[in-house]
Amino acid sequence: MSNLESILTENRIFPPNPAFSARARIDSKAAYDRLVAEAEADYEGFWARLAREFVTWDTPFSTVLDAHRAPHYRWFTEGRLNASVNCIDRHLPTKANKIALIAEADDGSVRHISYQQLHDQVAQLANGLRSLGIAQGDRVIIYMPMIPEASIAMLACARIGAIHSVVFGGFSAEALRDRINDTGARLIITADGGMRGGRAVPLKAAVDKAIEAGCPSVEKVVVYERIGNACLTEGRDIAWATLTAAQPSTCPPVMVEAEHPLFLLYTSGSTGKPKGVQHSTGGFLVNACMTNAWVFDLTDDDVYWCTADVGWITGHSYVTYGPLALGVTQVMFEGIPSYPDGGRFWQMIERHKVSVFYTAPTAIRALMKLGDAIPAQYDLTSLRLLGTVGEPINPEAWMWYHRVIGAERCPIADTWWQTETGAHMIAPLPGAIATKPGSCTLPLPGIIADIVDDEGNPVGHNQGGNLVIKKPWPSMIRTIWGDDARFARSYFPEKLKGYYLAGDSARRDDDGYFWIMGRIDDVLNVSGHRLGTMEIESALVAHPKVAEAAVVGKPHEIKGEAVVAFVVCKGERPQGAEAEAMVNTLRDWVAEQIGPIAKPDDIRFGDNLPKTRSGKIMRRLLRGIAIGELPQGDVSTLENPAILEQLLGK
Ligand code: WTA
Repeated sequence: MSNLESILTENRIFPPNPAFSARARIDSKAAYDRLVAEAEADYEGFWARLAREFVTWDTPFSTVLDAHRAPHYRWFTEGRLNASVNCIDRHLPTKANKIALIAEADDGSVRHISYQQLHDQVAQLANGLRSLGIAQGDRVIIYMPMIPEASIAMLACARIGAIHSVVFGGFSAEALRDRINDTGARLIITADGGMRGGRAVPLKAAVDKAIEAGCPSVEKVVVYERIGNACLTEGRDIAWATLTAAQPSTCPPVMVEAEHPLFLLYTSGSTGKPKGVQHSTGGFLVNACMTNAWVFDLTDDDVYWCTADVGWITGHSYVTYGPLALGVTQVMFEGIPSYPDGGRFWQMIERHKVSVFYTAPTAIRALMKLGDAIPAQYDLTSLRLLGTVGEPINPEAWMWYHRVIGAERCPIADTWWQTETGAHMIAPLPGAIATKPGSCTLPLPGIIADIVDDEGNPVGHNQGGNLVIKKPWPSMIRTIWGDDARFARSYFPEKLKGYYLAGDSARRDDDGYFWIMGRIDDVLNVSGHRLGTMEIESALVAHPKVAEAAVVGKPHEIKGEAVVAFVVCKGERPQGAEAEAMVNTLRDWVAEQIGPIAKPDDIRFGDNLPKTRSGKIMRRLLRGIAIGELPQGDVSTLENPAILEQLLGK
């Protein structure tokens, strides 16, 4: 609630910088209003225009939106296209030698890759994948460090119509195995490892472990040698270099239907099992292009840098597909913001003359803590626009970003969206919309967002409610891979009048600005990463010594939210040194089951957990206890009230 209070009192407003507006694609509030009106007057006509303007089609579409099987909406049905052609080939006539990727490795070494070189490398890998028998519709898992080859692998899959599913390199072998098996992937593309903060992160070892534990669908593993430590399993593994060496540098693209799945990406929901969010090719590209053009205002002379990993949706829409489809030059970074010191981001902005910079509030807060003197050492005058994503940004961090990094000159685009939406939904068009610290401002033209109560009726200004999108949009989730029923149930619940339910609560202020308040389901947002409380609970109870576990979030200064676990062990409740040892064991265990990002910050042991008489764990009480508060008010429905004091540590 403290977050809600702080945003309720926030009333500063920053009009667009006139110098920015003067060269922006959408340069005034009036221009924004015209686009909103255009979409309102002719919704399909609006999206058809953008789809033709931004995307290159091999076969044009005639149907714009097919809603016959709602909520399974289909967009641009007859259209055929290839995503890699849109990201590469169409730029070659005019900018073959333009730099597509400036890739800075962890140790500071830099590789420049032109659009022509990108084309050739994608074609060679695509041919290599074909030689292994990979064809349209096959699933391919990509488990890579943040190096150009990650994007090359994605684009090579797209070139031949294979469906990629990128798994974040920070996920463990266990989590990787679940995703491999859910997709039924025939092939894995990985690297021997990656470098982060001066340390090697083994990736291939996790792949080996996952396959050993049982991945019956996997036939081949392609291994990129990054750290010089590739151990290849005879008959199954093949080195990237070997696979691509003799391949021609042209590869005829497979023109797929607009609805052909471009990728699956797993994300956390309110059950123990992550969901494979399925995205289309045509619709996804339309919104990816449109938002990179409108929200980031990317033009030919920009040097753009999004710090997200390709393992997240941000790395799909705002690293691999969107910016490349617009033909811009972008920075790609393998390492971490704190290595070799906390000036790394600012040094890189100076070094590569970055003009548009997109990062997460958690990184901003961590760097803010180091003080103003560090960024002051670098020349940040190349910057013209800043962006944030992944979690609500607190006004204090917003102001620091604005003042110290943006020198009060750069607009800040606070972009609200989700894995499921595929692209920005609510965000300021920086040349047109005045910003307020902590608000993602107004929906993009064509996005019909609202805040409703549990029956789907709009709530008044300044009242919290469910954030919904009332009309389908091109880059929306198509289904949950292998679980269509869950798709309809979780995103289009019957009582909500067919609206898309985002799973966030929000309020709108008197100017109609949106303020995101947080998740309404059991999803945590730790450092901008989505984690399901149920996922962490399932991991904990899988430990032989754990009988029961409940996980909640608590506010954290830098990470936004921290994970707190309440655990009941089999046998005696551990105390003293034994409890300490058990905490470490369980933290490591969760890292092994899911990945280090899911490690609980705080683990408390109890003889049992607070439950209602019907046996339901009372998470509301646990959230209070996590921040050291005994619940006020009625706990009479509780089966075992005495447990509260114990969990509080009193
Ligand atoms: C949260 C990341 C406030 C939100 C692109 C959403 C945000 C979830 C913002 C999606 C923002 C994302 N302000 N909250 N600008 N952006 N969120 O799927 O709770 O990893 O539902 O996609 O992050 O996380 P996901």
